[in-house]
Amino acid sequence: MTTDTAAQAAYVVAALLFILSLAGLSQHKTSRSGVVWGIAGMVVALAATVGLASRSITTTGLVLIALATALGAGIGLWRARVVEMTGMPELIAIMHSLVGLAAAFVGWNGYLDVDAGLSGSLLAIHHAEVFIGVFIGAVTFTGSVVAYLKLSARINSRPLTLPGKHVLNIGALVAFVGLTAAFVARPGMGLLIAVTVIALALGAHLVASIGGGDMPVVVSMLNSYSGWAAAASGFLLANNLLIVTGALVGSSGAYLSYIMCKAMNRSFISVIAGGFGTPAAAAEEGEQGEHREINAEETAELLGNATSVIITPGYGMAVAQAQYPVAELARKLRERGVEVRFGIHPVAGRLPGHMNVLLAEANVPYDIVLEMDEINDDFAATSVVLVIGANDTVNPAATDNPSSPIAGMPVLHVWESANVIVFKRSMAAGYAGVQNPLFFRENTQMLFGDAKQRVEDILRGLDALDAPVPEMAGSR
Ligand code: TAP
Repeated sequence: MTTDTAAQAAYVVAALLFILSLAGLSQHKTSRSGVVWGIAGMVVALAATVGLASRSITTTGLVLIALATALGAGIGLWRARVVEMTGMPELIAIMHSLVGLAAAFVGWNGYLDVDAGLSGSLLAIHHAEVFIGVFIGAVTFTGSVVAYLKLSARINSRPLTLPGKHVLNIGALVAFVGLTAAFVARPGMGLLIAVTVIALALGAHLVASIGGGDMPVVVSMLNSYSGWAAAASGFLLANNLLIVTGALVGSSGAYLSYIMCKAMNRSFISVIAGGFGTPAAAAEEGEQGEHREINAEETAELLGNATSVIITPGYGMAVAQAQYPVAELARKLRERGVEVRFGIHPVAGRLPGHMNVLLAEANVPYDIVLEMDEINDDFAATSVVLVIGANDTVNPAATDNPSSPIAGMPVLHVWESANVIVFKRSMAAGYAGVQNPLFFRENTQMLFGDAKQRVEDILRGLDALDAPVPEMAGSR
């Protein structure tokens, strides 16, 4: 068997491993094995690629590849070890930017180093691939950098609303189509520079135009773009594995964006067009009324007398790392015969599946962790809802107030239950910058403080409920 045939066979194996990985990642129970399949696929792919390259490059080239691999792997390991769960979206965004940058470089390289054997329509196809690869890569690069800056709060997450922003986006796309035709007919560096600049500006503008609460969709969209950028590089490098892998990432990212759009009640097309977000009205909602407070002991008593409890976690649970005491609380309540379930909003936290990962980490049984659609009708028959560090995802303004910036976004109907306890540190707004009328409802009480500490206090309160009452002095 030649090296080429062996490498192609290894590519097929790697592609199958990537498909198995995606299948594994689609369910909590199998997600760990999904990650292992993905790592195995990547090892096979890297080994085959280096094996292929070793036929035609010098020893210096191989040493450089080894150095680059060691450096990349080292940085990857270091970042993965130190990143906080709450910092994952930023890390993902910056990684997407590298995929985009690599695709743009591969495109430029394809222009500067054209295979002498290409002519006629094959050469025209090559030039189209160069142009499309550079365009998608550059859009992904700047889009991801802006997403990184927004998610890490290095720039304001409010949507940028330039006058005629849709005309600008559509104009950039029309210019891209026109320039591609011109480049295929008469390739020239000026045209390639022009498309690079347009794509860099378009990527930055598309993401800058999207508002805070809609960022989840942006992250998954950039995930998809990075896949298409990799696939475009695959065509240029005649690398089947890169095409397959890019298509897998591109299509799964697009599907995830579609699911997120449905969850946020947004139109998929308007997301792709960029900038559907409306400026978040932070403090403009006016007086909301008085809120009521509760302490941990009173909450423990309420929970001790409850028959059914639903816990709706959000970003604050991740910040406080409260998942372990929350899991312990669920366990204790279930031991007391209370029905306990978790209600998970699709965009709770800062990345898809954020809450599911945290709860799985703390060994909460999967069968009591329900999606929003599965649990939304049950709130009305629930004694107590514990809103642990969630805000936008439980905001009734989304259903009641058509002028709210989050109007139309499906939310967890926690307010329909008999009692709602909201765990947070202050009356501050959530990620979308919108005040939450839930906090001022009759059946809502605020439990202020760090979520982890408050849940631990409640656990102690529950223990105290069970402790035998010491006999009063003098009593018989
Ligand atoms: P958010 O609306 O972000 O609210 C989280 C709340 O947690 C805050 O109001 C904060 O209030 C509280 N909090 C923070 N640290 C805390 C701590 N240590 N202890 C107790 N409370 C704490 O949360 P959510 O309901 O999960 O909504 C998610 C939001 O993020 C949505 O707007 C969504 O669109 C957006 N987003 C989601 C994603 C994905 S994919 N999930 C990605 C990007 C953006 P205090 O400061 O008063 O404590």
